[in-house]
Amino acid sequence: MCGIIGYLGDRQATPILMESLKRLEYRGYDSAGVAVLEMPTSGSARLTSVTKSEAKVDTLIDKLKANMPSGKLGIGHTRWATHGKPTYINAHPHTDCHSRIFVVHNGIIENFAELKAELEAAGHEFTSDTDTEVVPHLIEANYKGDFLSAVRAALRRIRGAYALAMFTTDDPELLVGARLNAPLVVGLGENEYYIASDITAIIPYTKRVLVLGEGEVAAVTPLGAEVSTLDGVSVEPKLIHVDWDLSQAQKGGYQHFMLKEIHESSEAVANAMRGRLTDDGTVSFREFDVPDDDLRRHSEVLLLGMGTSLHAAMVGEYVIEDWAGIPAKAMDASEFRYRRPTFGKDALAVVITQSGETADTLVGLHQAKERGALTVAVTNVVASSAARDADGAIYLHSGPEIGVASTKTLLAHLVSLYLLGLRLATVHGRVSLERRRELVESLRALPDHVQSIVDREKEIAEIAHKYSRYRNFMYTGRGLGYPLALEGAIKLKEISYIHAEGTTGGELKHGPIAMLDENFPVIAICTASATKDKMVSNVHEIVARNAPVLALVTEGDRSLAKVATDVFVMPAVEEAAGAILNTVMLQLFAYHVAVELGQDVDQPRNLAKSVTVE
Ligand code: F6R
Repeated sequence: MCGIIGYLGDRQATPILMESLKRLEYRGYDSAGVAVLEMPTSGSARLTSVTKSEAKVDTLIDKLKANMPSGKLGIGHTRWATHGKPTYINAHPHTDCHSRIFVVHNGIIENFAELKAELEAAGHEFTSDTDTEVVPHLIEANYKGDFLSAVRAALRRIRGAYALAMFTTDDPELLVGARLNAPLVVGLGENEYYIASDITAIIPYTKRVLVLGEGEVAAVTPLGAEVSTLDGVSVEPKLIHVDWDLSQAQKGGYQHFMLKEIHESSEAVANAMRGRLTDDGTVSFREFDVPDDDLRRHSEVLLLGMGTSLHAAMVGEYVIEDWAGIPAKAMDASEFRYRRPTFGKDALAVVITQSGETADTLVGLHQAKERGALTVAVTNVVASSAARDADGAIYLHSGPEIGVASTKTLLAHLVSLYLLGLRLATVHGRVSLERRRELVESLRALPDHVQSIVDREKEIAEIAHKYSRYRNFMYTGRGLGYPLALEGAIKLKEISYIHAEGTTGGELKHGPIAMLDENFPVIAICTASATKDKMVSNVHEIVARNAPVLALVTEGDRSLAKVATDVFVMPAVEEAAGAILNTVMLQLFAYHVAVELGQDVDQPRNLAKSVTVE
């Protein structure tokens, strides 16, 4: 949510800001801007060149190319609007009354109205509707020649969430970053430094990254980066080496990142398993290395996530309950935080978050910790907030996911939850060696099975072509098929803007069936499971209402061959593995419907990849 980048070094800042903003665009893309501290001509004052666009980053880049600011210190921003419409005036960077302080921001300043009133009363003039603009004015109000002290004093007054990159025209060799409840990293290059809202922005320039902690400020100068708290106490920052490479963050010949990422599914599934599973089903997680006895003491499991990650949590709920025989509950993290949950220190809380930065999920994690639960983050981003704040981490190792809609990381989440389920089943003595071996075999065969679905893309595109004329869709399933129905629906609606909803096969006739007619197709997940026959009956009920049905069925099962309008035949695999294959099919279906309708698949309207505000 909002991408930010800052540069200080030996090279020209503008081309680097432009490239980085392009890579950050997936975080938000309703407007963009940069500020570059220009090199003074002899005797003249230092000026800052500000360029903004009220459209996507490409428009900003065209403007910059036509009039390239020259300077070695600069900041840039691509916006996902929270306060104030996506207009030129509201685009970042924002500045103070005298254009001496420039700021880009990701997050929400919760007490901005109160601060703005106070600053206006003191004579500050505001030009935008944003919450961000209070930051440069507040720094200005505290600025008495020491920029860093003024930044700290200003930030001590701010409540809410921020990741900030800032500079002042008074010091061409100082770039400042700060964070609270929003991610920020400092990249260390050769004679150059970067501040960025995420690693993807700076992958081509450096793999050495400092991760700032909550309430920390980084002062970056040509001599290096110094990190301190808002009270000025020095902090030893955490240095990490990033193993993502540039090719993973580029489209590599695919029309969209989403398609490329679906094509990386098989690898993502293999990577999520790599080094974690022995032949007899013993599972080990390097960064969540809890002894069996400790794990056994946690007799209930709470799974928290949002959106697609919540659907992964729901699959995890079914699997853990079934395999480990212990209570498991998946919850929307944004709801969890406002309830009075009954669980406590006997619980294992599993937070599922690709980015590791989703605000609602992080609050859920913190609450679970406060109640004494053992916590683990299942996440794709090393050293993300979730990974750092939880007791342990299960990393997905999927490489960067740029398409706004989660695809390959969902599959990696599911595999990780299966491994966790197997581990819990083992420590609770609920799974025989024979069953473990069966599951290992099924998991190990998954990458090839996943590839076999991806290889059928053309067939799926043809089905998508046929169905893309409808404006409403119902997805339905039972057991593991239910979260998949919800996921199929979210994927379709978020990238194609077609109305879609998901329901259990059982719930269908308690209301949703009233919607169905010949213009309201149903995607029915009828692959092999304990409730498959019930789903077959549901499909008969749907067909009786004249709704077209696309049924996902297991090979060899002919029960719907003459009933459903279309069937898509899946390989015969174990049920949990089947859920992953069904997911890939539904992702490709949604992708091709959206492409058919000419939608901007990688950057759907109103959305952003990482939702770092509540
Ligand atoms: C949908 C999608 C979102 C995310 C959700 C949580 O395709 O990508 O629903 O799943 O915003 O994001 P993370 O997993 O980063 O916490």
